[in-house]
Amino acid sequence: MLNVEGLRRDFPILETGIVYLDNAASSLTPEPVLEKMLEFYREYRANVERGVHRLSQKASEEYEGVRKRVAEFLNAKTAFEIILARNTTEGINIAANGLKWSKGDKIVTSMIEHHSNFLPWLRLKNCCGVDLEIVKPKDPAVDGLLDPADFEKVVDDRTKLVAISHISNVLGAIAPVREIAEIAHEHGAYILIDAAQSVPHMKVDIQNIRCDFLAFSGHKMCAPTGSGVLYIREELIDEVEPLYIGGGTIADVSVDHYELSPSSTRFEAGTPAIAEAIGLGAATDYLRKISMENIEKHEEKLTKQMYEGLSEISKVEVYGPKPRDRIAIMPFNVENLNHHDVALTLDVSANIMVRSGHHCALPLTKDIIRKPGTVRSSAYFYNTADEIDRFLFAVREIASKLAK
Ligand code: ALA
Repeated sequence: MLNVEGLRRDFPILETGIVYLDNAASSLTPEPVLEKMLEFYREYRANVERGVHRLSQKASEEYEGVRKRVAEFLNAKTAFEIILARNTTEGINIAANGLKWSKGDKIVTSMIEHHSNFLPWLRLKNCCGVDLEIVKPKDPAVDGLLDPADFEKVVDDRTKLVAISHISNVLGAIAPVREIAEIAHEHGAYILIDAAQSVPHMKVDIQNIRCDFLAFSGHKMCAPTGSGVLYIREELIDEVEPLYIGGGTIADVSVDHYELSPSSTRFEAGTPAIAEAIGLGAATDYLRKISMENIEKHEEKLTKQMYEGLSEISKVEVYGPKPRDRIAIMPFNVENLNHHDVALTLDVSANIMVRSGHHCALPLTKDIIRKPGTVRSSAYFYNTADEIDRFLFAVREIASKLAK
């Protein structure tokens, strides 16, 4: 069981009385993570992988330790498979632009993707003659649930990559990634998973999903902004040309030749975001201590409470699947009210932070939800049932007093 009240003390910003329900955009950062980052700046502030002196050795040890801790957190086979990137977007772009594409190759993605798992593929279609197949969620489409059978229909032997989100950042819908990975592999295609919304909230086991690439951001899981990960299955590392090359990426250089580093640092050109990476390592320790199973159980309750509560409010329309197929990411609209006005009213009148807009998923918002935008409330393990009640009360007030 989660000791939510105890954990909340690690987030002093919560003492100001705010209700933070914008966790799908970015989570709060707990004190132990901030302390670990400060420890780097105070005690061993030096560059990594570039010095024999004590401080550099200590910084390098901590930095490389993050790779190991992330590998354990995801049950990856080796730390070599973990590339420390700035965020999910950068991770996906490393894979998209580093793989070799030929005219006629096919990429399969879905209609519910965040732009970060859509634009890199659209650009390859436009620039390199790659075919892009976009799978829609099964009916009713607004549930956002993807059906493996629809992937069966379009994944073929020309398919080089299937790229899908584990959890929709708008609808909270959980995708059957393992089944889709199997379909991809039956046709010799790779599978890339945008795990930005899953890794912070559930136990993700890379060897169980059997994915080839997986990307996520640290800032949605208690780590600082500017920290993230791209996992590349060990056997595929040489298939991906690094996006940037330069300091830190090589084993050898002569005037007309260079040889890439045999380690994952080949993808981490220049001095990396060291404190941020160390913060990410501390965040994985923090989450492991709480246990992802406990986080999942607590959030399941919040998901149900938020879904049922919103569904009962007249003039409110909630999007996405039933609680059993989603996490606590809950988009909605209040009748004729503009989504930004609702979000602003929640802040100004009730001290509640949510996101509003298209959430960087315009194809989904325009063609499936068919609205200009939504209000999106998203919870994390430090949110309480009382906070969800406060949020529901405020939405009820807005619906009854402001909607026509
Ligand atoms: N990807 C983040 C979101 O969904 C920023 O809000």
